[in-house]
Amino acid sequence: METRAVIIGLAYLVSAVLFILGLKGLTHPRTAVRGNLLGALGMLLAVVVTLADQGIVGYWLIGTGLIIGTLIGAVLAIKIEMTAMPQMVALFNGFGGAASVLVAGAELIVKSGEEGVKRGEIVAGLLAGLIGAVTFWGSLVAFAKLQEIPAFKKPIDYPMKQAGNAVLGLVVLGLIVLGIMFPGTVWFYFLIVIVASVLGFTLVNPIGGADMPVVIALLNSYSGLAAAATGFVLDNSVLIIAGSLVGASGVILTQIMCKAMNRSLTHVLFGVLEATEGSATADEVYGGKVKSTSAEEVAMLMESAQRVVIVPGYGMAVAQAQHAVRELGELLSARGCTVEYAIHPVAGRMPGHMNVLLAEAEVSYDDLKEPGDINPMMGQTDVVLVIGANDVVNPEARNPKSAIAGMPIIDCDKARTCIVVKRSLSPGFAGIPNPLFALDNTLMFFGDGKKAMVDLVAALKEQ
Ligand code: TAP
Repeated sequence: METRAVIIGLAYLVSAVLFILGLKGLTHPRTAVRGNLLGALGMLLAVVVTLADQGIVGYWLIGTGLIIGTLIGAVLAIKIEMTAMPQMVALFNGFGGAASVLVAGAELIVKSGEEGVKRGEIVAGLLAGLIGAVTFWGSLVAFAKLQEIPAFKKPIDYPMKQAGNAVLGLVVLGLIVLGIMFPGTVWFYFLIVIVASVLGFTLVNPIGGADMPVVIALLNSYSGLAAAATGFVLDNSVLIIAGSLVGASGVILTQIMCKAMNRSLTHVLFGVLEATEGSATADEVYGGKVKSTSAEEVAMLMESAQRVVIVPGYGMAVAQAQHAVRELGELLSARGCTVEYAIHPVAGRMPGHMNVLLAEAEVSYDDLKEPGDINPMMGQTDVVLVIGANDVVNPEARNPKSAIAGMPIIDCDKARTCIVVKRSLSPGFAGIPNPLFALDNTLMFFGDGKKAMVDLVAALKEQ
């Protein structure tokens, strides 16, 4: 082997090791920043070596792409709200899929004109087209749902969704077989991409509510698998390794999400969600039963509490109330009260959303508890303070006919008193009313999360 190839191979090996060390670092919040840096360093090395290796690449074209991409990326990064990060991640996954479709397609076209295109490369190329197109369109639908674009809030309805998906799946598989049998015909690639694009849309369209986190993890994994398949077409080992790592970690995250949500992957992918079918209307749930409260009243309740559990949700992220929440927690702890934070795995809009926000506010990790640890203690909890959470505390999950049936929740209804901070009675992401708000032991503290916390801290200090 010539020296140049050995050096490139070694550099790719170092990149791969850095990716793995990066992923290892990301498994714990304390080492996550270092992990991120190691991963980025690995990617930088891989990109530089790949560019240096490809003598035929037009650098001016790459440079132009780099400048345009950097400008778009920089503007987006500066302008994007922290609460819109999940949508942004959905777009990243989607663009990863689209890049695989374009690169694998271009390479197949070039290679099919040459003699001796390997069968393995054809299989990998067609798979990259299939998975990449499903990822791109599926991620766009996921983006629209997370952005709460009205037309996508509920699944677009049409008959025989499941049967349609099965037919599309069979068609695309048939096209792959034909594409392998007739390797010189690039038309199969285009047909596969078109059918897979429709499939990406129809697969994600019916998924919503509590199942969204699972589908985002899965799309993330698909984007990695598409990149790995493209790596085989390009014969680029570092792309195969990086894609496989993203694919494998995405699959593991999907599994963790499924477990946390008490869902099977088959249910998420093939169980068409009939939103609110078995749930009561908002009028039936709330009519005349909701009691509102004030900062002063909540402060009085907290004053005498021995044990307080704080349950953050998406609204805490919207209000950016995490610092005020930490201040409240510290104030209560200083008065001898036990304060814990109940973190639901899908609270917010991305995995670890609440952990990140509370870490930013310097809440101790030791005080963050998972539902399985906190729920048995709910009966002995004097006050549970729900701040901007809704679906993750909705007892409707215990109703087998509800849209969020079976989803594990934080049992706030079992605490002695439940205070819910939110601006109105409007529903959460799953779009269904929450009977917790109408219970005898619940008081609604209406208002913006941050303002409510600041007022509460002030009221507590005055007592
Ligand atoms: P949600 O059920 O979405 O409820 C959030 C609540 O926050 C809303 O009811 C809203 O009520 C309130 N809110 C919004 N802005 C507020 C503000 N400025 N101040 C105070 N309250 C505010 O949130 P959750 O309980 O965290 O559940 C998450 C949901 O998102 C689940 O259904 C989950 O499946 C889904 N999801 C999660 C993920 C991941 S990975 N975490 C990804 C996709 C989807 P008001 O408008 O009345 O204030």
